[in-house]
Amino acid sequence: MEPLGQYPDPTHTIAHLSDPHLLADTLQYGVVDTVTRLRQALDRLRRLPTPPQALVFTGDLADRAEPVAYATLRSVVEPVAEDLGAEVVWVMGNHDEREPFSLGLYSEASAAPQDRVHDVAGLRIVALDTSVPGWHHGELTAEQLDWLRDVLTEPAPHGTLLALHHPPIPVPMLRLAELIELHDQDRLAEVVAGSDVRGILGGHFHFTSYSTFAGVPVSVAAATCYASELAPHQRLLSAVDDHQTFTMLHLYADRVVHSVVPTTDGPEVDGYGLEWLEPFRSLTPEQRFEMVASKDSPLNRAEEPLLP
Ligand SMILES: [Fe+2]
Ligand SMILES: [Fe+2]
Repeated sequence: MEPLGQYPDPTHTIAHLSDPHLLADTLQYGVVDTVTRLRQALDRLRRLPTPPQALVFTGDLADRAEPVAYATLRSVVEPVAEDLGAEVVWVMGNHDEREPFSLGLYSEASAAPQDRVHDVAGLRIVALDTSVPGWHHGELTAEQLDWLRDVLTEPAPHGTLLALHHPPIPVPMLRLAELIELHDQDRLAEVVAGSDVRGILGGHFHFTSYSTFAGVPVSVAAATCYASELAPHQRLLSAVDDHQTFTMLHLYADRVVHSVVPTTDGPEVDGYGLEWLEPFRSLTPEQRFEMVASKDSPLNRAEEPLLP
């Protein structure tokens, strides 16, 4: 739909999904069908009013780094990305391993950090590999930070989004996650500060979180597979097959808007059908405003929704 208010259309629309944790042939914890959960997220993504130009997956793509899981991931995600005309950005997580990740997703087996630069209509998206082979916490080597500094030397036309798995923010809702956080965050802050990075996207927590880092907004997308239960019943740590979401980013010249999208449908209690769209479009801007904003309009005075 065309803009109806003060703001123009966004310059870029990006879908941020995280932590699908795909498995070759078993259910996660014997319960979670991670492939179905990912498909549910993508089905919802297809129905959104603004199709994304990129799908950014911030790590933990394959729960046990099985080659078959990466193949499944591509077979599930790539047809959707093609339909949407969206580029796919893959980021390493602590559950991923570099060789099956790079072979499965980029057809080149490599043990090197999986850092890549994507250009999405003038928006630079940098995939930064914070994984540490054999460990669950995150680190960035001096070479990776030098590489990132070089990449950021030249500003991109629409700025840069940094996509990484281990979010460089505090995690007060889940203190145990502090043991597997990104180490030495100050070194990354020195590179990000003053650059054209306008957003940092992370995963790893399995719940949505927001903060800032070196003055840059940070957005953590929840997982598509299972969620960390933030209000557990007398449990030290609890994972639930519920609360799955992903995040949509809409970029404007001077800001980024984040919107969290649940991956499951809810029961509708009110609404209007698509048959209302053309009549609505035929109204003048003043008539539309009157109809929707005035408490006295027939639309807002009706006790029940006005159905045709
Ligand atoms: Fe994860
Ligand atoms: Fe993780």
